[in-house]
Amino acid sequence: MVRLWAAGLIIAAAAMAAEAPPSSVTFNKSVLPILQDKCQTCHRPGQVAPMSLLTYQDARPWAKAIKAAVETRKMPPWNADPAYGHFLNDRSLNQSQIDTLVTWVDSGAAEGDAADAPPPKQWPTGGWEVQPDIVIDGPEFDVPASGVIDWFWVAIPGAMFTKDTWITSIQFQPVDDAVVHHIGIAFVPHTADVKYNEPIWQRVERDADLITIPGQKESFETLRNAIGGGFQDTYVPGHTISDYRRYNAARFIPANTDVYLNLHYTPNGKPIRTHVRVGFTIAKEPPQRQVVMVTVGGPTDRDHFRIPANNADYAAPPGDATFARDVEIFSLMPHMHVRGKAMTFTLTYTDGKTETVLNVPRYDFNWQLQYDTSIKVAKGTKLRVEAHYDNSAGNRYNPNPNRDVFYGEQTWEEMESGYVFVLVDDPNFDPRHPDLVEKATRVQAAR
Ligand code: HEC
Repeated sequence: MVRLWAAGLIIAAAAMAAEAPPSSVTFNKSVLPILQDKCQTCHRPGQVAPMSLLTYQDARPWAKAIKAAVETRKMPPWNADPAYGHFLNDRSLNQSQIDTLVTWVDSGAAEGDAADAPPPKQWPTGGWEVQPDIVIDGPEFDVPASGVIDWFWVAIPGAMFTKDTWITSIQFQPVDDAVVHHIGIAFVPHTADVKYNEPIWQRVERDADLITIPGQKESFETLRNAIGGGFQDTYVPGHTISDYRRYNAARFIPANTDVYLNLHYTPNGKPIRTHVRVGFTIAKEPPQRQVVMVTVGGPTDRDHFRIPANNADYAAPPGDATFARDVEIFSLMPHMHVRGKAMTFTLTYTDGKTETVLNVPRYDFNWQLQYDTSIKVAKGTKLRVEAHYDNSAGNRYNPNPNRDVFYGEQTWEEMESGYVFVLVDDPNFDPRHPDLVEKATRVQAAR
């Protein structure tokens, strides 16, 4: 089979060299390479997309939908304004790829000669994007058909790192993505009193509209401090993998570290028993650089963060941070909830020059993408995160335009979080040391 493909390719290449390219665009020759490169990561069995686009038989019934989805740039999901920044994982199609797909559909969506097709792309088994070295399973959880489920932390039994480990990629598998609002992960020094598999709930009191009642004890903060500063990586809808291998970087996990997951399930109409999975690849030897995730967000108190009812374009107070050492920013990720509309990340360099490095003009809660880049910033560089919200009836995801919206953890409350992933060029840097993290960036004091 494989040999046949290879032979076919050679013949095809020879034929193409000899004569002008044929005018008809076929699936095997022109479409499949694009699908392999830009679509199959999600459009294959077991992945987030509803249908497979692995073969002609899979893709043919979707021809018209493919045309519509690529012409409107709904697919592949990619929300960065091309006028700003430069992204290593830019999965958007260029105009000639769009033209190829559209021409294929308009000309009858022919299959073409099998000999023209590239060999099928090999994907890791088990639904992974990269085959993990270590897999951990979260606890089985019964998600009810409806209602509100608070966040909880849980220490995962059998997941303790017993020796120093360098994690080079983290991949979350929600398993049932429709009910998983997020998965957070924290690496916490082992203590004798750790209680594995026992959810630690963050209960929140709410009013009749399910809005968090202010003034209650912030149990989450206490817990967060106990866990050691909160999330160290996170899955949200649309996220695939945090892969540091290409940067020769890793997260250092010292010996005797427990893994905690923070789970937020959202009911989706029918009860389901489910769990999540996390896969890691690990380095054989210590890498040169350390990975740190920092959150740059605006204020969270009600005096400063209040999205007025029926306001279609509320500009929230920005989040600001100053880098206290030289770092390389390698990934940016806006996080807001369903009223989130737009977010920008702007750097002010030490020479005073200002540059917007990411603009997401139409934020989509269902596609919270990570934008991978490479920006070296010197100590003293400032980062500003600015967010806009649409709390009007015109926002089709808005559950209630008639209430002011405040900071909160549920999707109908709001957040203003710019996640910034940085590389620290120091093999001995311990990213969990709170002082060093605080020095790496000044996280908004209001948190
Ligand atoms: C990051 C994952 C991802 C990638 C990459 C991706 N898709 Fe999708 N696609 C989805 C998901 C999830 C859905 C269903 C939800 C939705 O429509 O947003 C979908 C839906 C679709 C639909 C149905 C749209 C509709 O309106 O019903 C089409 C057609 C489609 N994708 C084509 C493509 C093509 C063609 C590519 C590559 C050029 C691509 N997708 C890349 C995840 C992806």
